[in-house]
Amino acid sequence: MKIGMLTGGGDCPGLNPAIRGAVLRLLDYGDEVIGFTQGWKGLVEGNTEPLTLERVEGIIDQGGTILRSSRTNPFAPGKEAQLEAVLANIKKFELDALVALGGEDTLGVASKLYTLHNVPTVGVPKTMDNDLDKTDYTFGFDSAASVALDSIDRLRDTAKSHDRVIVVEVMGRHAGWMALWSGVAGAADWVLLPEVAVDIEAMCEQLKKNYARGKTWGIVVVSEGVEIPGAQKGDNVELDAFGHHQLGDVGIGPAIAKEIEKRTGFPTRDVVLGHTVRGGSPTLFDRILGTRVGIHAAELVHKGDFGKMVALQGTEILAVPIQEAVKQWKLVPQDLYDTFVTTFNK
Ligand code: F6P
Repeated sequence: MKIGMLTGGGDCPGLNPAIRGAVLRLLDYGDEVIGFTQGWKGLVEGNTEPLTLERVEGIIDQGGTILRSSRTNPFAPGKEAQLEAVLANIKKFELDALVALGGEDTLGVASKLYTLHNVPTVGVPKTMDNDLDKTDYTFGFDSAASVALDSIDRLRDTAKSHDRVIVVEVMGRHAGWMALWSGVAGAADWVLLPEVAVDIEAMCEQLKKNYARGKTWGIVVVSEGVEIPGAQKGDNVELDAFGHHQLGDVGIGPAIAKEIEKRTGFPTRDVVLGHTVRGGSPTLFDRILGTRVGIHAAELVHKGDFGKMVALQGTEILAVPIQEAVKQWKLVPQDLYDTFVTTFNK
């Protein structure tokens, strides 16, 4: 068989182990595997590179993706020509199947290609945000959250030395897994997530309580997707709830830091971790998960089980309809958040 493979959306550690796992198993079947570079853009433009044993054997410890990535979406409004090009290239390259590694957007394209155009696709879930539904974990998350945790540990040292509160903003547009996991593991004093209404007053009261009993430093972790009622990041408006701060000037982390300093009087700093957490070598967990889902994707190709995404559920790797996985985000349940907050806030 001739199999196409691509990685789309934001990169994350674990993509290379997944590519390697899939290619190694496909080679066992005697397949020819070609990679389309830069996600769906590669399929639109017909840019390929052969995925051989030599190409994948030394990549397990490399972050990013050897196939490179983009956010091209041929089903986006006005991109009909791109979709035509994709369908034409699938024929031109005589693909028997297409394996797409990506998050909700990339897999949404794979799902539509299957349901609307009968393209035999298999999806491999990837996102450092861990917000893809129908899978317990996605590779990338453990690596990225571990980098965030390492940063929090370092920031705690300096927060303690200077009796400061440090606000750490981490990625996570729709879900707060990254903020919650790194915050809990890093013994943060408060964690703000997009799923949970911001209670700035309760947070500041907690920090004041800590200071009053002698803990004269603090760590607050905030997810980039946190919204303040009545305002969105990018707005250039006065925020009632947040005094004079303008979200157009600063992101959510810096705005929260300013607000904490204003309300508590404690010296406060902010750090936006941003893309830093997306780089670096995949953790053991992500190498194993990437390898497992990659191998399983190759098996689905050979079973002819298309339109499916491989998923980790419990300890098993299963196949679920891609369509089901991209319907909604996997959000942090309120009770999980409450458990941590009520347990740790003294
Ligand atoms: O989707 C993953 C993600 O890392 C988000 O957490 C973040 O908001 C976004 O990608 C950043 O996208 P870009 O790399 O295009 O700036």
